[in-house]
Amino acid sequence: MAVVVEEFLQAFLLILPAMLANATPVVFGGSRPIDGGRVFLDGRRLLGDGKTWEGLASGIAAGSLLGGLLAYALGDPLYAYAGVFSSLGAMLGDLAASFVKRRLGLERGAPAPLLDQLNFYVGALALLYVAGFRFTLSVVIALGLLSAIAHLAANVVAYLLRLKSVPW
Ligand code: CTP
Ligand code: MG
Repeated sequence: MAVVVEEFLQAFLLILPAMLANATPVVFGGSRPIDGGRVFLDGRRLLGDGKTWEGLASGIAAGSLLGGLLAYALGDPLYAYAGVFSSLGAMLGDLAASFVKRRLGLERGAPAPLLDQLNFYVGALALLYVAGFRFTLSVVIALGLLSAIAHLAANVVAYLLRLKSVPW
């Protein structure tokens, strides 16, 4: 049991930069859409106005910074390396989800259950995998639940702070 807990805590510290990266754009916002207003073959926006360069950059910067701080605090440079992949993965997962939402005909900000909550987590897992990190299935599921709950809670707080117009 102790091994699982230890593994979970370590995995949590690797996902933490992704969580921060995902939350940061909501605070900073942005004005320059990554898709530049372009539409896809279906005539709908490629990503939409909710995905901006400022949001992308602030997310990757904040997550990577947290990775650096964790590396310093824990005396292990691996966390700095992981932080970059974790936050980059989170932002790519978020972009991929918006691409899918637009293809489904969902407007910017429309709710897409599971996709909205887990896109950053799946993206972070994928890039951490590329970086050489391996997680057991139980850790993947436990962290997925935690990520989804944290995302929902953070969005309710952002809504109450009037940072978001919808609580999801
Ligand atoms: N945001 C941003 N750039 C990003 C990601 C997010 O500027 N790369 C900001 C936008 O202000 C966005 C807010 O964070 O509205 C919340 O992000 P999210 O919920 O992912 O976007 P939605 O507006 O809901 O758009 P979508 O339907 O595409 O998910
Ligand atoms: Mg949203």
